[in-house]
Amino acid sequence: MKTQLEEIRKAALESIDSCGTKEQIEEARIKYLGKKGELTSILKQMGKLSANEKPIIGKLANEIRADIDNKISEKNAQIKKAALQSRLNDEAIDVTMPAKEPEVGHKHPLSTVLDEIKEIFIGMGFDIAEGPEVEYDYYNFEALNIPKDHPARDTQDTFYVDENIVLRTQTSPVQIRFMENHKPPFRMIAPGRVFRSDAVDATHSPLFHQIEGLVVDKNVSMADLKGTLEAFAKRLYGENTKIRLRPHHFPFTEPSCEIDVSCFKCGGKGCPMCKGEGWIEILGGGMVHPKVLKNGVVNPDEYSGFAFGIGLERLVMFRFNIDDMRLLYENDLRFLGQF
Ligand code: DAH
Repeated sequence: MKTQLEEIRKAALESIDSCGTKEQIEEARIKYLGKKGELTSILKQMGKLSANEKPIIGKLANEIRADIDNKISEKNAQIKKAALQSRLNDEAIDVTMPAKEPEVGHKHPLSTVLDEIKEIFIGMGFDIAEGPEVEYDYYNFEALNIPKDHPARDTQDTFYVDENIVLRTQTSPVQIRFMENHKPPFRMIAPGRVFRSDAVDATHSPLFHQIEGLVVDKNVSMADLKGTLEAFAKRLYGENTKIRLRPHHFPFTEPSCEIDVSCFKCGGKGCPMCKGEGWIEILGGGMVHPKVLKNGVVNPDEYSGFAFGIGLERLVMFRFNIDDMRLLYENDLRFLGQF
C-alpha cells in the first residue's frame, strides 16, 4: 500500500505540474483527491490494515494529500501570475508610438458662403442686424404690407405659435425692427433662419436661411439697388458676372423685381447648371413700399430705400454643385468632409 501511495504521489505531482490551465488542475484534483479519486479509494482499503500499519499509512496518506494540495495552490498561483503578466504585456502602452492626429473641424458650407456674403456687404458699408426667430405676426406680415387675407399667411406655409406669434417665415421683419431703432441713412443686412411649414425634399426644408438687405437714405433709387447688387454679384461670382432684373411682385416693395445672375458655370451660354437658361435667379428685391417705411417710423416723403432678400441655400447648392438640400442639414461627416 505504501508503494501504491508513493506512486500516486509521484503521478499526481507530475500531472499537476504539467497542467496549463485552472480547469486542468481541477480535473487532476478530482482524479486524485475527489470522492472517487485514486487517493481516496486507497484510503478506503485502510480497514484491512493491522493496528500497527494504520497510523503509518494514515500519516503518509495525510502527507501526500497535503503535498498534492500544496502543489495545486502553487500551480494555481503560477497560472494566475502568468495570466496577469500576459495581460500586462498585451495592454502595455508604448509611449514612443506616434499619436493619433486629432480631427480638426472646419466651417459648414452654409457658413462659408454666408461669411463671404457678409464680408462683401461689410466692405460696402453695411451693418449686420439680427431679429428674433419667434416673431410677432405684426412684424412678419402686417407691418410688411401683408394683410390678413394674403396667401403667404396660409397656415400651410406658416408655423403659428398662437394667433399673434409665428416662427418668422422670412427675414423681412428685421427691416421694420431696424427702422424702428435707427435713424436713416443706414445700410444693413440681416442674415438668419426662417421657417415654413414645407415638406422636406431635395429643394425644400421647413428651416432655411435668408439674408435680408435694407438701404434707406435720401434719393435712393432703383439704380442704387441695381448697382449695389451688381457689385455684390461680381464680388461673389467674378468680374464677368452680369445681373438682370425681372419685374415681380412683393407686398413690401414697389416696384419689385427678381434678380438673376449670368450662370457662373457657362457664363450665360446655357448649361445643365442653369438648365440651359444662361441665368440663375438669386434674389428678390425692390424699392421699399411707402407704407412699410411708415410702419418703420421713416418718413417716405423725405426718405426712400431699397430692400432685397437672398436665399442662402440656393447659393450654396449652386456654388458647390449640391443637388439635395437635405445634405446641408444632416451633418454627415462623409459629406461635410468634402468642403
Ligand atoms: N421676403 C421675401 C421672401 O421670403 C424675399 C424678399 C423679396 C425680401 C424682396 C425683400 C425684398 O426684402 O425686397 O420671399
